[in-house]
Amino acid sequence: MSRMVYVDGAYLPEGKAKVSVFDRGFLFADGVYEVTSVLDRRLVDFEGHAARLARSLGELEIESPVSDDELLEIHRQLIARNQVIDGLVYLQITRGAAPDRDFAFPDPREVPSTIVLFTQSKPGLAEARQAKVGIKVISVPDMRWKRRDIKTVQLLYPSMGKMLAKKQGCDDAWMTEDGFVTEGTSNNAYIVKDGRIITRDLSNAILHGITRAAVLRFAREAQMEIVERPFTIEEAQAADEAFITSASTFVTPVVEIDGIALGNGNPGPVGVRLREIYVDESRKSAI
Ligand code: PDD
Repeated sequence: MSRMVYVDGAYLPEGKAKVSVFDRGFLFADGVYEVTSVLDRRLVDFEGHAARLARSLGELEIESPVSDDELLEIHRQLIARNQVIDGLVYLQITRGAAPDRDFAFPDPREVPSTIVLFTQSKPGLAEARQAKVGIKVISVPDMRWKRRDIKTVQLLYPSMGKMLAKKQGCDDAWMTEDGFVTEGTSNNAYIVKDGRIITRDLSNAILHGITRAAVLRFAREAQMEIVERPFTIEEAQAADEAFITSASTFVTPVVEIDGIALGNGNPGPVGVRLREIYVDESRKSAI
């Protein structure tokens, strides 16, 4: 069965799904995206992702071609048509295909936005191996632009960071700026010291993770102490434990940073507990 993809109002087999070479997503990375996880055929935190999408579009003055209700229906149709049990739905909206390549934005009344959605099936997503063994990260300078709060498709530098990590036998990179960790290449970063969870405060320096918001809410409900402030790589290396969060990794422990093992080198109890809570609660509230 060929995977079905949604493009500008039509459900098409992936081989037939096409976007113009003049699309500004292709030419200028002029587009935004969302990744929503699917557990037991249902969407985790759809409302949060829809709200962040609306904000990203608003910041870039890109018009949404669909309403939130239509967006939910498209997500559900794709999950059903592609028989996704566990996995994710990827969504991208770009400023559309202008008649010519031009740095100036086209008039949205003449050039409609492009919308594409597809699914990726990941059986057993909640039982991923990395959640059990943890991941190793390296640090790299954060060389991205300064509006990281907008979820744009400009992902070349994060891809390069990921590849640098892989070349060193590690899994991911934590990016640093002015001596402090901003975030992972595609996730938010946390450390735990003396029972306190420390994660960078929200600003334009990082993406405001939907998983981050949920995990911090669950942590507060479980009476855990949270401190939202930047931390350095040295502080992280001396922490009791560390972890990352994202829609595709949930809560995943970090066991090594720049070659230094954290604690006893195994996933720490706070991250493991938060993952359990997050997965349980997400299964309950998924729609
Ligand atoms: N990435 N920070 C960055 C830079 C990200 O790209 C992501 C998500 C996050 C976590 O956000 P959330 O909890 O809303 O997924 C933080 C997605 C999963 C991706 O690019 O595949």
